[in-house]
Amino acid sequence: MTTDNTPTALTNTSLGLRRAWHPVLRSADLLHNAPQRVMLLGEPYVLTRINNTLTAFVDKCPHRNARLSDGCVVGEHLQCPYHGWEYTAQGDLAHVPALGAGATLPPNTALSPARVIEKYDLVWIAPEEPVTDIIALTEWSDPSLRHVWLPPLTINAAAAQFIDNFLDFGHFPFVHAGTFGSGEDENIHEYSVERDDSGWGFVVNYEHTIENNEDPLVATGEHPLVQPRTMRYEFTAPFSCNLRLNLPTTGMVNAIVTFCQPVDHNTTCLYSVMLRNDCPTDELAQAAAAYEMDILAEDLKIIEGLYDKVVPLERGQVHTRADRNTVEFRRIMQRLLGGTSRI
Ligand code: FES
Ligand SMILES: [Fe+2]
Repeated sequence: MTTDNTPTALTNTSLGLRRAWHPVLRSADLLHNAPQRVMLLGEPYVLTRINNTLTAFVDKCPHRNARLSDGCVVGEHLQCPYHGWEYTAQGDLAHVPALGAGATLPPNTALSPARVIEKYDLVWIAPEEPVTDIIALTEWSDPSLRHVWLPPLTINAAAAQFIDNFLDFGHFPFVHAGTFGSGEDENIHEYSVERDDSGWGFVVNYEHTIENNEDPLVATGEHPLVQPRTMRYEFTAPFSCNLRLNLPTTGMVNAIVTFCQPVDHNTTCLYSVMLRNDCPTDELAQAAAAYEMDILAEDLKIIEGLYDKVVPLERGQVHTRADRNTVEFRRIMQRLLGGTSRI
């Protein structure tokens, strides 16, 4: 029985998630002078670019609660669609048409701002002062790696359920039998989890073998089908992961990165990009993206069927030594939610 306030469940609307950065939109999808509505942690926000200033406010006009995202940018102001009140890029009320020019404006009318930045070609929001940094990706600016984005994908599951799956490698021979998993060893050997200096992330290195169906030299007999692979998982709270795959037989590097947007209780949007050195042409990049989507579809069959859109954090769950990294994920998230880890 719980005797303190330690949270026992992690969902897409857990309050502690407000103290972190979350992706909410591809940067390219936020046009100048066109307000855009996004949902995060069950709350609506309006994004704008006003005079090259990126802004994020709770999508609610203080006058009569209209959606500011249905308004427009007028000059350097965001204009509400209902009565035309205008707000500056800082969120201050600047003009009330019904009162005429130069009128004294009503008090307590500033918009509620959120912290907003752009990183990794995405717009990120932190509803409250963030305690964690956005994941650091050493591969991002590596010129030998091509950025192969998958289309943003909305799934019917919690972000924590997706990350729990992303970090897990005991499921490969079962869930991924139709793609890369059929030749994999079911037995997970010992591995360790290294917490990073910030305490908000960890790294796992793991070596195993796979059937490399993407290697064209397998068909010619120059390479064996079953090849060694090293996996390096990097996790940063709350919901960013980088799985760097190295195949020594082919020299392939593929860092698969997913950033999750907890949209509302039932819904998560995935922003996934592969940073890889084996896709010099558009055709190869498209084929790699299609293959990754097939793998993702296998995962989603399981993830979207999980119960309750929640990852439990209380004691008493069943874990094995193979689950060491997903247990560490739970410990870190319990801390983010304001509790003391008891897992
Ligand atoms: S509701 Fe926004 S101006 Fe009236
Ligand atoms: Fe998987």
